[in-house]
Amino acid sequence: MAMWCPRVFLLPSTIVVFLFFVSQILVQSTHASAEGFTRPPPGNIIFSEHERSKSEPQQVHISLAGSDHMRVTWVTEDHKAQSTVEYDTAPGQYTTRIRGEHTSYTYFSYSSGKIHHVKIGPLEPATTYYYRCGASGPEFSFKTPPSTFPIEFAVVGDLGQTDWTKSTLEHVESKDYDVFLLPGDLSYADSQQPLWDSFGRLVEPIASRRPWMVTEGNHEIEIHPVVFPQGFKAYNTRWLMPYEESGSESNLYYSFDVAGGSIHIIMLGSYTEFDSDSAQYKWLQQDLAKIDRKMTPWVFVLLHAPWYNTNMAHQGEGESMRKAMEELLYGARVDIVFAGHVHAYERFTRIYDNEADSCGPVYVTIGDGGNREGLAMSYKEPASPLSMFREASFGHGRLRVLNHTHMHWSWHRNDDANSVVADEVWLESLSASGTCMGQPTSSLKDEL
Ligand SMILES: *[C@@H]1O[C@H](CO)[C@@H](O)[C@H](O)[C@H]1NC(C)=O
Ligand SMILES: [Fe+2]
Repeated sequence: MAMWCPRVFLLPSTIVVFLFFVSQILVQSTHASAEGFTRPPPGNIIFSEHERSKSEPQQVHISLAGSDHMRVTWVTEDHKAQSTVEYDTAPGQYTTRIRGEHTSYTYFSYSSGKIHHVKIGPLEPATTYYYRCGASGPEFSFKTPPSTFPIEFAVVGDLGQTDWTKSTLEHVESKDYDVFLLPGDLSYADSQQPLWDSFGRLVEPIASRRPWMVTEGNHEIEIHPVVFPQGFKAYNTRWLMPYEESGSESNLYYSFDVAGGSIHIIMLGSYTEFDSDSAQYKWLQQDLAKIDRKMTPWVFVLLHAPWYNTNMAHQGEGESMRKAMEELLYGARVDIVFAGHVHAYERFTRIYDNEADSCGPVYVTIGDGGNREGLAMSYKEPASPLSMFREASFGHGRLRVLNHTHMHWSWHRNDDANSVVADEVWLESLSASGTCMGQPTSSLKDEL
């Protein structure tokens, strides 16, 4: 046995490659056997080529980083390219120049380009900025979110890079919004690293204009036994989110504020530890405790594997996380929980512990962004009375927060014109409910 350990670290490359393929087959076969439903033909993968020079930025995307800063991320093939962003509120003149950091990674025989992360600001709210990355390449622009209501979110899960993805993104772009929220499963690279680059190029026109706030799905894991036991190598390197800014120790869960602190959004990790002794659980507890619902009337949560799901696909996969964390979210009166993973749309009523509860969050599954695996067509029958609307079509959601008390949720199918709303509902903030903000109903339950 003593001889075995050192050898693990001296694997010849042929064995590494062999392990890579074996684990690919294992991943694919567990997938196939776990799914007792039929899906329509998946969309074709679109491979987005690199059309700029080696020193020019590609895969530009932005994310919120603290109350008045934005993180600009991009990749260059040239490792000498500078990690600087120049910007201003008028096109073509860049009076502010900020230097940031850079990183890169390797994955089997793949070596990434130079991945740049530059945090810029302070920035004014609801303002358009023009910017250039590494003093080279095209000019980009973004608009910062407003510091007041109304504010609108586009919500898209399980995006991928297929014909369906393209259709979804066209629908998203056909009407303005402020922040893009993605509850996991981005590129579906599934260890083929060039597909991460292709995905970055596909989404650049959209992700360079509005902040993309994402959390991880199972397709981000990319664990390989022995070689990459921790997983998330590409995801954490390329899609750096403001976890340090929110007191989290991991890029796999974090939170941020929008609308001048009136909305608190928590991104949880379905594929990292969540039990009551885990770092994620403790962080969540502290993060929720800091919220003052008088200052922050809205609290949203995003995670990947749904806690409530009446689709045949992925039944029970979110159950252990629900058991561990549902009480925390319920106690904090979280307004809405978005999940992905199931390639369909479903909206539930307010729930706590498998029962309708007017102080619980509304649960929405929106895993229908356009991934290469197709739709999840089969549902459990008869329909649960908790499930208000369910349909397996590609699409995206819009969450428009009007003021401290009211928001409007709508789901838009790709098959329809964007003005057609397939499902919609008005929701009132739980912070405005005397019943829910007073005596917690769970303590009543304890007494009975
Ligand atoms: C909030 O918006 C809703 C929907 O537009 C409206 O009915 C309500 O009166 C608004 N409340 C306040 C305080 O403005
Ligand atoms: Fe998934």
